[in-house]
Amino acid sequence: MVAEGKPGGHVEALESLLGADLVLSGPEVERYCRDWHGDVTSSAVAVIRPRSTADVSAAVLAISGLGLSIVPQGGNTGLVLGATPDDPARQVVISLERMTAIRRIDADDFSATVEAGAILSDFKDKVEAAGLYFPLALGAQGSCRIGGNVSTNAGGINVLRYGMTRELVLGLEVVLPDGSVFDGLSTLRKDNRGIDLKQLFIGAEGTLGIITAVSVKLLPPAEQVATALVGLNALSDAIALYRRARRDCCDLMSAFEFMPPVAFTLAREAMPDLLMPIAADYPAYVLMEISGSGLVDVEDLMHRFLEGVMEEGLVLDGVVAASKAQSRNLWLFREGMNEGQARRGAHLRTDVSVPLSRLADFVHEAEAAVMEQLPDALCVSYGHVGDGNVHLNVLPPNGLTREEIDAYLYRAKIAINEVLYLFGGSISAEHGVGRLKKADFVSRLPDAQARLLGAIKRAVDPGLIMNRGCQLNFDPD
Ligand code: FAD
Ligand code: LAC
Ligand code: ZN
Repeated sequence: MVAEGKPGGHVEALESLLGADLVLSGPEVERYCRDWHGDVTSSAVAVIRPRSTADVSAAVLAISGLGLSIVPQGGNTGLVLGATPDDPARQVVISLERMTAIRRIDADDFSATVEAGAILSDFKDKVEAAGLYFPLALGAQGSCRIGGNVSTNAGGINVLRYGMTRELVLGLEVVLPDGSVFDGLSTLRKDNRGIDLKQLFIGAEGTLGIITAVSVKLLPPAEQVATALVGLNALSDAIALYRRARRDCCDLMSAFEFMPPVAFTLAREAMPDLLMPIAADYPAYVLMEISGSGLVDVEDLMHRFLEGVMEEGLVLDGVVAASKAQSRNLWLFREGMNEGQARRGAHLRTDVSVPLSRLADFVHEAEAAVMEQLPDALCVSYGHVGDGNVHLNVLPPNGLTREEIDAYLYRAKIAINEVLYLFGGSISAEHGVGRLKKADFVSRLPDAQARLLGAIKRAVDPGLIMNRGCQLNFDPD
């Protein structure tokens, strides 16, 4: 049943159906309606903060009964506006931030079950305290939440060894758009009883239901970790180094991140106290990590590997962290460069992938295409090159109005995408589609895929209440 009413009436109705404790309204909704970079500010009818799966079911029924729709939210660190409302008078945010319990850590089973609102780094710390390891790692891990990680199928820095989030998920509990609960919280590693339904919700960006709990795989902790930062002549040498490292490091490589020299400037703009570990004027840098447990001597392996590649001239200079603190300092450059870019204001953030063998050529051609059109742009290409994934970001010059910046970044995006499509690449390697990439996603969606996605959406969410405006246009209006 649809109750008519002005937004104020909706808040009162939600409070009376769910209890005032679960409902935020007025200025309190603001912080849930701004994206991480502060580029987009919106609003919503209300924010519901459930404490349990039963609360989520009640909230879904109450919201749909009022004829409103739902924007699920975890840590709100997503970079494609998936959790940012775009229809303030008709959308309610459901934030999972109060559902943070770890239901179970099972050391014998190498698994855990955790509620969707747990912050990733809190969960990792508790798993570590139990003598185990959860490998998902990304710069936003102090704020993003497990349900958001699953809903975006997050990648991060350890994908080359452990896979994307999807590969770490064993089971899910999801509140469906009709308020019922899909209880798929199994921790079985092998289970071929038909179609694996949980996969539908991984990477769905909240368009099919609300994930309330997740079962994940755990691993033995990596007792030994060797971190190195090396300087090279070019991105193509970084790819050559990656191939060598995969061959020589016994499959123990857990991270291989590319950074241009400007990364150090950007990171220090955000974190001025960072200590420079090596000269900052090599054309290219790689931050790599090898990790293992048991009888393997990981540090010796790293030193021998680097000696070999330096003798050959593939690596020009390098430093291996001698302590956990030094390793952390190296990683802060990689993490700080994101914040440094954010501080420079609105910029184009891309998240593209191409076949690894073509990555260096792609970056070369795409940066050239941008510079040809926008000679005063600053291109910052960095990221998880071992996965064929690069964030080719474009920072505009100072002094432009917001409208001029938008037009500038649009031109940069078109220039990059034209090259990307020639390379057979993806516009979203790890961040998702959200609202930001919807037009580009939809414009190149093959018919068969569009039909299948539409059929799934209509079967699971016939009232179209889940995250309208995100990923695809299903709005019947
Ligand atoms: P949110 O931003 O809250 O939501 C993201 C999407 O998931 C939205 O569509 C939302 O509606 C939906 N959603 C959230 N929770 C639920 C739920 N419980 N049920 C259903 N739908 C839900 N991403 C990477 O992949 N790799 C990186 O290396 C990486 N690094 C980052 C570094 C920084 C500094 C920042 C700011 C972001 C980075 N990200 C990265 C992007 C972001 O952190 C990830 O996408 C993360 O997984 C989002 O989690 P969240 O809890 O913040 O989700
Ligand atoms: C990173 C985010 C932007 O890799 O995905 O830093
Ligand atoms: Zn990334």
